Amino acid sequence: MAKAVRFYETGGPEVLRYEDVEVGDPGPGQVRLRHVAVGLNYADTYFRNGTYPIPLPNGMGVEASGVVQAVGEGVSNVTVGDRVTYTGFLNTLGAYSTERLISAAPLIKLPDTIAFETAAAMTMRGLTSSYLMRRIYDFKPGDSILLHAAAGGVGLIVSQWAKLLGLKVIGTVSSEAKAEIARAHGCDHTINYSHEDVAQRVRELTDGVGVNVVFDSVGKNTFAGSLDSLKRRGLMVCVGTASGPIPPFDPVLLAMKGSLYLTRPALADYIADPAEKAALAGELFDHVGSGRIKIEINQHYALQDAVQAHRDLESRKTTGSSIFVI
Ligand SMILES: NC(=O)c1ccc[n+]([C@@H]2O[C@H](COP(=O)([O-])OP(=O)(O)OC[C@H]3O[C@@H](n4cnc5c(N)ncnc54)[C@H](OP(=O)(O)O)[C@@H]3O)[C@@H](O)[C@H]2O)c1
Repeated sequence: MAKAVRFYETGGPEVLRYEDVEVGDPGPGQVRLRHVAVGLNYADTYFRNGTYPIPLPNGMGVEASGVVQAVGEGVSNVTVGDRVTYTGFLNTLGAYSTERLISAAPLIKLPDTIAFETAAAMTMRGLTSSYLMRRIYDFKPGDSILLHAAAGGVGLIVSQWAKLLGLKVIGTVSSEAKAEIARAHGCDHTINYSHEDVAQRVRELTDGVGVNVVFDSVGKNTFAGSLDSLKRRGLMVCVGTASGPIPPFDPVLLAMKGSLYLTRPALADYIADPAEKAALAGELFDHVGSGRIKIEINQHYALQDAVQAHRDLESRKTTGSSIFVI
């Protein structure tokens, strides 16, 4: 019998239930996929707690890797036996499962150089890093970035990629242990934002100028300091809101802080075009397959431990990527 983690109401980690599910045969455009590994992403907590409203009951998780078991009518991008990975948003909900039906559209064939576990640990976080590094800003060697939650899943990939581009990387973390991990993955400097003044430290580290770009995945607690860390006409990238949503603000603030730019991007809009998705995935697979970027899987869970996995992620116990191994 296939198993899945589902939820019937929004709330804390305890709303997640591990259940038996019937999978059935794929319909037109669908495949039946046997999962080998499943990604645990911060976005999963937004679905669970209602930040991203969805109809309930529903499945949990948006990213996994596995093997195609059966294909429905009209599927031409994959065949039975293919090793694949996927990530998405509403279109891929239900990834916390041993086996599932899914539309074939989001599936990406895995090269032999990428293991299933690595794929589940990086399809969301790595493609996000790929567009953040290659599409958001025209980076030149010597440009500087401020990267919040630098020891996290997205953080460790972005910091390594940024070094490959020759950027100066300032990372924030909440502990000395995380600072060491961040420095070992490319951060030139780390700031412990639980007790240091981020904007002041960034000014000190950039000769008073500020950074070209801030990648802010923390939101509420870091927003103001992020704007104050940017150079004139710098770019604020609101990547996520791990500490809570950013309160409403008047755009005139951007003028007063130095004619800043601000974007709140979503991965879905950078992989909507199949050619662009293939290009971003190709760069990611190339960097990871050749060892230039290492995917650190620092937490492994069983699917039935999803409640604990969410607790660990939200209580800031994790570093790097977390996966469920099926
Ligand atoms: N926009 C997009 O396209 C996109 C795509 C993927 C992911 N994301 C976002 O990128 C971020 C990173 O995702 P991830 O899965 O790799 O998670 P993660 O960074 O591994 O985990 C979140 C980290 O945020 C930091 N944090 C700061 N304040 C926090 C708080 N109050 N509560 C909990 N954590 C807090 C913690 O690091 P410290 O202990 O060092 O503070 C924590 O480890 C998330 O915000 C996610 O939503 C955005």
